[in-house]
Amino acid sequence: MDFLNSMQLEFANTLLKWYDKNGRKSLPWRKDITPYRVWLSEIMLQQTQVKTVVPYFHKFLQNFPTIKNLAQAKSDQVLFLWSGLGYYARARNLHQCAKIIVNEFAGKFPNDFTTLMQLPGIGRSTAGAILAIAFKKSYPILDGNVKRILTRLFAIKAWPGQTAIEKNLWQYATNLLPKNRLDDYTQAQMDLGATICVRRKPLCGECPVNQYCQAYAKQVTDIIPAKKPRKSLVEKQTNLLILVDENNGLLLEKRPDFGIWGGLWSLPENQDISKINHVIKERFACELIKISLLPAFTHTFTHFKLLISPYLIRVKIAVNQVMDNMSLQWYHFNECKKLGLPTPIKNLLQRLELTL
Ligand code: ADE
Repeated sequence: MDFLNSMQLEFANTLLKWYDKNGRKSLPWRKDITPYRVWLSEIMLQQTQVKTVVPYFHKFLQNFPTIKNLAQAKSDQVLFLWSGLGYYARARNLHQCAKIIVNEFAGKFPNDFTTLMQLPGIGRSTAGAILAIAFKKSYPILDGNVKRILTRLFAIKAWPGQTAIEKNLWQYATNLLPKNRLDDYTQAQMDLGATICVRRKPLCGECPVNQYCQAYAKQVTDIIPAKKPRKSLVEKQTNLLILVDENNGLLLEKRPDFGIWGGLWSLPENQDISKINHVIKERFACELIKISLLPAFTHTFTHFKLLISPYLIRVKIAVNQVMDNMSLQWYHFNECKKLGLPTPIKNLLQRLELTL
C-alpha cells in the first residue's frame, strides 16, 4: 500500500479521534443542525473569524428564525443586521438565495451539489460544507484552513491560490475523505486549521496528524503555505515639464484634489512631447528658449509604476500674455521648498538646483 493509501485510511480516523476530545463543539451552529443554520453560518464564516461571527449568527436567527422570514425581510433590514461583518455582497447574496429557495424550492434547502452551486454566494467549498455538515454527504471542502493543512501535509511550496495547485488540492481533499462522519470530519479540519495548524507558529508538537505531515518532517512549515505572489505592477509613463524662466522662476501646477498626489503642487505634465512648442506657447504663455531631457526615473505607487521623463525647459515669459489657468503658478526655486511637493518631485528639484 503506498503512502497516500495508507495515510488516507488513517488520517481521517486520527483527526476524528482528536476532534472528539478537542473539537469546538459548543459553537452555536454545531447545535440544532439544520441546513438553514449551516448555510447561514458558512456564509458568515467566509472571510470572517469565528468570534466575530457568533453574535451576528444569534442576532440573525432571532430576527429571522426561518429561511422564509429571511426571504420576506426588507433588504435594508438584512443589510442593517449584517453591518459590521463586512463584504456586503455576502448579505445581498444571502437574501437573494433565501428568496430563491422559498420561491423555487418551496423553502426546502437543496441537497445536491449542482443545484447548490447555482445559488448566489455558494461556491464549491461552501456547497461542500453544507452537503457534508447538514446532509452528511461525501463532499470535500477547501477553504483557507484546509488549504493550509493540505499544503503542509504534502509539503506543497507553491502558492495554493494558483489554479493548477488548487486543482491538486481538491484532489487531495477528495482522496482523504472518510467513509463516515463527514459532518464531524469537515468541522474537525476547520478546528485543526484554526487552533493547531495556524499560519504563524503552528503548534506542530500538539498536532494529532503530525506523523503524516511532510512539511513538519522537513521543517518547512514556516514557508508553507507560500504567500500570494505580488502582482507585477502596471507601468505608466509621463513627461514632467520643468519650466524655468530667466530669473530662475519655476512653474508649478496644483493637482486635482482626487487621484495621485491629490491637492499637492507639482510640475506640469504633458503626454505628447512632440507638441511641446504649442503647449508652451498656448498653455503656459511662454516662448521656448531651450529644452533638454534629464535622466528618467521611476516612482512606484500602490497600483502602478510611473516612469517619469523630466524635461528641463528654459523659457521667456511672453509679454502681454497671461495664463488662464488658476492652478498654474510661478514660484522662485527657494519658495518651492515650503510647498507641499510630492517627494519624488522635491528630490528631482533638489538634484536640479545643484546644476542650474
Ligand atoms: N469556518 C468555516 N466554517 C466553519 C465552521 N463550521 N466552524 C468553524 N469554523 C468555520
